[in-house]
Amino acid sequence: MKVPGKIRTELTEMLGIDYPIIGAPMFLVSYEKLAAAVSLAGGLGTLPLPNFRTVDELRRTLESVRRCTDRPIGVNIHLSGKFAWREQMAVCLDFGVRFFLTSLGDPQLILDAVHGKGGVVFADVVSLRQALRAREKGVDGLVAVGSAAGGHSGTTPTMILVPYLKAKTGLPIVAAGGVSTGAQMAAAIAVGACGVVVGTRLIATPEARVAKAYKDAVVRADPDDIVTSDRITGNPANWLAESIRVFDERPDPASKRWRDFWSAGRSVAQTEEVRPAGEIVREMAATYFEAVRVLKGTLPGEDPR
Ligand SMILES: Cc1cc2nc3c(=O)[nH]c(=O)nc-3n(C[C@H](O)[C@H](O)[C@H](O)COP(=O)(O)O)c2cc1C
Repeated sequence: MKVPGKIRTELTEMLGIDYPIIGAPMFLVSYEKLAAAVSLAGGLGTLPLPNFRTVDELRRTLESVRRCTDRPIGVNIHLSGKFAWREQMAVCLDFGVRFFLTSLGDPQLILDAVHGKGGVVFADVVSLRQALRAREKGVDGLVAVGSAAGGHSGTTPTMILVPYLKAKTGLPIVAAGGVSTGAQMAAAIAVGACGVVVGTRLIATPEARVAKAYKDAVVRADPDDIVTSDRITGNPANWLAESIRVFDERPDPASKRWRDFWSAGRSVAQTEEVRPAGEIVREMAATYFEAVRVLKGTLPGEDPR
């Protein structure tokens, strides 16, 4: 799909990308192929660092992303003692990663090192309380994760959370949760976001490293097939109901196999087929232009067609 041009926001300027679209870091889903495809298409591909058991494994993955593209990429880093985050951060900085998204631990721990290389640190937040705490730590921006999001989610819809956090914190806000088309991206930007994170729709891509049955389930699902439950990880997250029925059958946590539990958000409503990630990013950008044109047509003196 032809995109008429670049889309300029605070996020695209900050990261040097063509479109304000971040491919979500998704645990056990986003690896080198998905990250590279999103970045090559003009968005920001990302990797969740808990996917990598060792720093060497991470290094090999970054090498393989860099064989495909030298465009910007990002990572989701967990700043807890369980992870070798210092070494992970150093390797990422060496490979030119300049976008660090924190979702666990104190973002202050990495601010100086990341800023020293010209990078930025954002924090995943689901509430004003978390947002204010992250601002206090000095983050450069927030990813506002709304209630429709795949993965861990809060209780406030994205359309309410984004303008709320923007007004209360004044920080750049990226909208996550239920944003997977150009029109939804235009809506998010209209309410104050400088970019969007797309997760669920990118599960249904050849590049996502998950079972075909998971991709097919995302395509088949209706938003009512998504349930919010804290039983799997201990924190509220959105799941394909059919996949967590397994948990009822084998409730013993020791028997848990993460790959059996399929997380997805209510953007399953807009996920109608398995398609290459680059096509999805470009289509989002192209249909963003279309949505803005439609909005412009509602103004006095404009042609409404
Ligand atoms: C299967 C899955 C795994 C995820 N894992 C992570 C993760 O490891 N780290 C993270 O920051 N966000 C994670 N997320 C959340 C996404 O980064 C993103 O915020 C969310 O998917 C956006 O909403 P959407 O699914 O409606 O597009 C995950 C989402 C999904 C669907």
